Amino acid sequence: MKVLVGVSLLLLCFVSRVKAVTVESCPLATGGLLQTEVEKTVTLTCMTDEGIDPSNQKELQWFRNGAQVNLAEENRLYRRSLCVQPVTKEDNGVVFTCQLKGDATVNSSIEFDVQFPPDLNDTKEVFVEETSDVVLSCGVRANPPVTVTWKKDGEVLDLISGSYKTTNNGITTLLLITKAKRDVHQGTYICEVNSSVYGIMGRTFIVMVEDKVLRFPLGPTIAGVVVVLCTIVFAMISRRNTIIKCIKPN
Ligand SMILES: *[C@@H]1O[C@H](CO)[C@@H](O)[C@H](O)[C@H]1NC(C)=O
Ligand SMILES: *[C@@H]1O[C@H](CO)[C@@H](O)[C@H](O)[C@H]1NC(C)=O
Ligand SMILES: *[C@@H]1O[C@H](CO)[C@@H](O)[C@H](O)[C@H]1NC(C)=O
Repeated sequence: MKVLVGVSLLLLCFVSRVKAVTVESCPLATGGLLQTEVEKTVTLTCMTDEGIDPSNQKELQWFRNGAQVNLAEENRLYRRSLCVQPVTKEDNGVVFTCQLKGDATVNSSIEFDVQFPPDLNDTKEVFVEETSDVVLSCGVRANPPVTVTWKKDGEVLDLISGSYKTTNNGITTLLLITKAKRDVHQGTYICEVNSSVYGIMGRTFIVMVEDKVLRFPLGPTIAGVVVVLCTIVFAMISRRNTIIKCIKPN
């Protein structure tokens, strides 16, 4: 009996001395996932249990996606805390880890889920010659992802009748117009994105189909004219010399 009690006490002692760290955040994370938005500020604090001397902040290290964070570069509060300000698109999906220096198994992580709208809310003018091709492009990278609808003059685009092609890889969506015809393709296009967080946005394209221009090869023409002019000038100079030579003896 005495031996058992002794062992239990030893175990208790051992358990209370197990070193552990936990990351606490503002705003609060749920299930290791911290939801925030671009331009916001996030504070992470590495909490230590009794096994770690709280006064010894040097024992703690921070990692961002596995790379050690140089706290001097960051908006540093003190070693225990990390301030991410401002949160950017590039922080989406990033994992911040606090660990005990010299014992990587004592660690705690938090993942960022950064919401941001697609970067499009503008108007562009596009000029295309008759029978040429043109590509309209919209950056649609966003979190949460958006749905895209191409419209022409307010109507959902009929992809088949207008010989249009579209692609969307979640980062860029393209609308390809082949062999532009003024009566079919001239008009106002929009890539309309629908975000469950940011609502409806888009980029407007005013597409003008211009007459085909017969191009005059200007470069070679100028070169030709210069050669002719030079020949004339040299001819005149040499002729003047012979005239002068002729006159001199007199
Ligand atoms: C963090 O701790 C866990 C559990 O102790 C371990 O499996 C993992 O490898 C540690 N992470 C790193 C980066 O060492
Ligand atoms: C888009 O632009 C309009 C005016 O140009 C502005 O009122 C609106 O707030 C902008 N929307 C976003 C999401 O930036
Ligand atoms: C945007 O999407 C939501 C569902 O995600 C839908 O209810 C809404 O009607 C859509 N708005 C437009 C203008 O398509």
